[in-house]
This record gives sequence, structure tokens and C-alpha cells, in this order.
Amino acid sequence: MLTLCVNKGPFLTRMRCGCDAGHQRAAPGDGPGAGCDDRDMTDLVGLADVRAARELLAGITRTTPLEPSRPLSAALDGPVWLKCEHLQRAGSYKVRGAYVRISRLSEAERARGVVAASAGNHAQGVALAAGLLGISATVFMPVGAPLPKVAATKGYGAQIELVGNTVDESLVAARDFAERTGAVFIHPFDHADVIAGQGTVALEILEQCPEVKTIVAGVGGGGLVSGIAVAAKAIRPDVRVIGVQAAGAAAFPPSLLAGRPVRLPAYATIADGIAVGIPGDLTFAHVSKLVDEVVTVSEEDISRALLMLLERGKQVVEPAGAVGVAALLAGVVEVEAPVVAVLSGGNIDPLLMLRVIEHGLAAAGRYLRLTVRCNDRPGQLALLLSQIAEHRGNVVDVVHLRQNPHLRLGEVEVALSVETRGAEHSDRLISALRASGYQVAFGETAD
Ligand SMILES: Cc1ncc(COP(=O)(O)O)c(C=O)c1O
Repeated sequence: MLTLCVNKGPFLTRMRCGCDAGHQRAAPGDGPGAGCDDRDMTDLVGLADVRAARELLAGITRTTPLEPSRPLSAALDGPVWLKCEHLQRAGSYKVRGAYVRISRLSEAERARGVVAASAGNHAQGVALAAGLLGISATVFMPVGAPLPKVAATKGYGAQIELVGNTVDESLVAARDFAERTGAVFIHPFDHADVIAGQGTVALEILEQCPEVKTIVAGVGGGGLVSGIAVAAKAIRPDVRVIGVQAAGAAAFPPSLLAGRPVRLPAYATIADGIAVGIPGDLTFAHVSKLVDEVVTVSEEDISRALLMLLERGKQVVEPAGAVGVAALLAGVVEVEAPVVAVLSGGNIDPLLMLRVIEHGLAAAGRYLRLTVRCNDRPGQLALLLSQIAEHRGNVVDVVHLRQNPHLRLGEVEVALSVETRGAEHSDRLISALRASGYQVAFGETAD
């Protein structure tokens, strides 16, 4: 068995575990899965570890509700439920793993405090967990981290250090801090205690919906889906566990193909909570052995899901928390009902929410941006707008442009944003305008 733990995840190149002995060693009396002292980094977490984690979390985390989803049940022709972890304390499931991990530190480690780096949910989970345990926490966040997230993390009592332009740069600073001060670095996913803590989500799901056949959850580094798979497969081996990544940050599919964690050369997605460039060693071992499938969804799929959850479900969910629903809506995965989709987080910056709603409306064909050429004569703009109104398009924005060099003399261009009732309605509106002789184009200019 390995006693020296070397994390090679996206966040650390080489890092000591931070315990007194220079490697991760459980405190005497700790239960199974307490640290990775006597575990190989690829030893899988077991059901007993998840059950022990649940005992630790009693009275600390919420048993979040499981809500039926009518639109999804209708779309999939079978019951679909939503596991509302966006209603968890600190707005995501992250506090489960963070609390289990931190509560198992030795007295000496607790005295040195903990350190993490994150722009979002992990920061808040660590800050809350450390605060509840009376342990000092330092969280490194990028300089441009959204103010509400900085304020929330600070509000849970963590010391905030704004360093670097990206989370990766904050992570370098956090690692330096850990080495300098002896604070224990809390990894966001690649640790047995973190995986066991996240697995408690599945214990609740199996109690709330014992007949569940498929569980769908978002995947960044893989901690959540690993924990879910450990518990679900041990209790009900017939349950399918499906992980979902954003296509713009999907390190698991190439890693699973290669048989080892593979780093993405670049990645970007609106689902910032799951924007991770490489799976962890431990999470990769779990996902490759226990998870049935990992699928990807597009940015449009995610925006549409977020909009549906907001509009139909009255649920405020962040993009990373909505990827499971996105996969179901987009039909990129075959599932057997009853299905449970995990809404894993709700910490969304209001400004991002505005952008995503607009994107979701556009993706659903309900927000049409078009440019129309018309004659530059009095009354022409009113005529165009009245035609749109006649076809029940709701104009939300109008820009009247004369400066385009491609316009003929006596022509103007009108850029419009129009709210419609969906793709079919948009098509009808465009056809009607064209039938009236207008040159219509999507985007900046009409040809
Ligand atoms: C909202 C949300 N969902 C899902 C995840 C998945 O994370 P992981 O696979 O690393 O456990 C994260 C990670 O932070 C998250 O913030």
C-alpha cells in the first residue's frame, strides 16, 4: 500500500498531504476512508465509508427535497425527479464532502487550519464546514471572482485572498500557502473523504425514491458522481449512474478512452462549477469502474435546461447544476424511468443568469435577433413594427442604422430583438416579413 499520497489533479502537480508525518494519515480512531493513509490512491471508497460519512453529517447538512418534474416526466414518458442540492446549505452539495474531510483532521492539523482555492462552490463548502468545526480557513480566489461569491465565502468566516486571474493561479498561491504555513489543502474532489461525503446524496435519493432506475449528475473532477456511484451500485447494482460534462470542458471521455486521466489543452464553458481540465486519479478510478456512461451537453443544451428549470420548475439553478437536466432534455442519453437528476448547485451570479436566460431563449427559438432592410421614408419603421405586432412578435429592442456602407442610398437597416413563442412562431414571422418584400437576415446585416 502507498503511504505517500501525490495528487496529480488539475490543481496540484505534486503536493504533500499536509499531515504531521508528511503524508496523509488518519487520526487514531478515524473510521474507514478517513484520509488515505493506509489506502492506495486508487483504492475505491466503499458503502461503509459513505454510511460513516452520513453519520458525521447528521444535523450538519440538509436532507434536500426530491421534487417531481412534470415537463421532464412528460418528455421522457416516465417519472423524473429532481434532487434539490441547490437548496443545500451554502447552495450546493459541496459542503458534504468538505465537512467529512475537515472533520477527520487530527488535532494538530486542525490547529494549522485549512486552505482551498476556488471561485465558487468549493470555496463556500470549505468555508462553511471549517466554520462549523471552529477551524480557521483561508480561501484563495481569483481577483475577478464574482462579488456575491466572495461575500458569501467571507460571510461563512473564511479569510479571503484574492490572487491571480484564474483559479489555476489561485491554486498555485494556495499550495504555496499550505507549504509555508502547514495549513491542510482541501482538494475539491480527489480524496476518499470528499467522495464519501458526496456519496451521501445517493443514500438520500435511494430512500426518497427506492424504485429509481437511473441517476444523472454533473461531472467536473468527478467527486460527486464517484460518491453517488459507490453508494448506488452497492445498494442497487441495477441502478444506472450517468455522468454529464459540458462539451467545452469534457476531460472524462478522452480519459476513459485512454484508460488514464488526460489533461485538456484548453477548456471553456458557462458551467464554471464543472470546468475542470483533468480528472483526479482517485475519481478516475471510481468513474471508470462504477459509472455506466459519461455524456456531454452543449452550451445551448445547458441554457435551455436552466431556462426550463426557472420557468417551469421555479428552481434557481446554476449552469453546472443543470447539466443532468440538460442531458435529459437534449435526449443525449437513453434512460430508464424513474429517473433522478441531481440539481447540484444554485450559486449563480445574477448577471450570468441574465445572459443565460437570453441564451436559453435564443436556443429555444424564443428570442430572435434579426436585421431588416427597409426604405428610409417616414412611416417605414412603424410599418415594419406593426407587421411584427400583427404576427404577435414582441419587440424588445430596436436599433435604426444608416451608416452601413453596404446600404444603398435611401435604405436603412433595422436591427431587432423579438420575443416569440418558439421556433415555429419565429419561422412564421420571418416568412411573413420576407413575403412582404423585406430583406431579412439573422445577426448584424441583411444581405
Ligand atoms: C454545481 C456543481 N455541480 C457539479 C459539480 C461537479 O463536481 P465534481 O465532479 O468535481 O465533484 C460541481 C463542482 O464544483 C459543482 O459546483
